[in-house]
Amino acid sequence: MDSKANPEKIYPSGYIPKENSSVDVRNQLLDEILKSAPTEFINTDLFTVMSKRRSTRKFTDKIVETKKIDKIIAAADTAPTAGNFQGFEIFYIKSPGKKQQLVEACNNQPYVNAPVVLVFCKNPARVKLDLPQEILKKFAIQDATLAAAYSQLAAQAMGLSSIWIGMFDEQKIMKIINTELIPSSVLCIGYPKQDKFPKPRRNLKEIVHTVW
Ligand SMILES: Cc1cc2nc3c(=O)[nH]c(=O)nc-3n(C[C@H](O)[C@H](O)[C@H](O)COP(=O)(O)O)c2cc1C
Repeated sequence: MDSKANPEKIYPSGYIPKENSSVDVRNQLLDEILKSAPTEFINTDLFTVMSKRRSTRKFTDKIVETKKIDKIIAAADTAPTAGNFQGFEIFYIKSPGKKQQLVEACNNQPYVNAPVVLVFCKNPARVKLDLPQEILKKFAIQDATLAAAYSQLAAQAMGLSSIWIGMFDEQKIMKIINTELIPSSVLCIGYPKQDKFPKPRRNLKEIVHTVW
């Protein structure tokens, strides 16, 4: 156990999660956005949301309400992160011109030009843990990925649909959004043109490898 660590808590050497700096209020804005009532009736039961989610590559032109976008972004901020250092950043792309450039940066995938486009980037410099750089980078990938996954589920919970983009030219995206941070995913969100059934999956028994 690390000597600097809170003696009541046990962490591995070098891993000291960020403590709350002030009071118990974690983030008023975040909690307010998360608690705000939905504008329409939607079944937000987590497992219903999960069972209905299906990637969409065709969106209607309907504008996504700001309240929903706020919630999608707030959801990302509820994801666990390594040491609670939040080793990621979200770039919310509003410019139609930049969205079009992102299409090209994402191997000409036209649906990247979606009503809402969020680029999740890794920010290992935020992860202030006394660990090798390689581990910090690994943490930042996981932080950014989890954050995007939380946003994706939140979008689904509010009647929206999305497509996760992982095929892109990192350097091109970094130039378009003007950052030194490496993107981990591009999440494109909107109202689906069509409701589709979820895709089939492997048998659960094939996925799980029980280890005794
Ligand atoms: C890491 C990752 C990368 C992906 N990259 C792309 C992509 O570049 N383009 C695309 O159209 N879909 C992409 N997808 C979406 C997957 O194709 C989709 O999630 C998968 O076919 C399963 O379908 P479902 O999301 O409807 O269950 C990606 C998904 C993940 C998780």
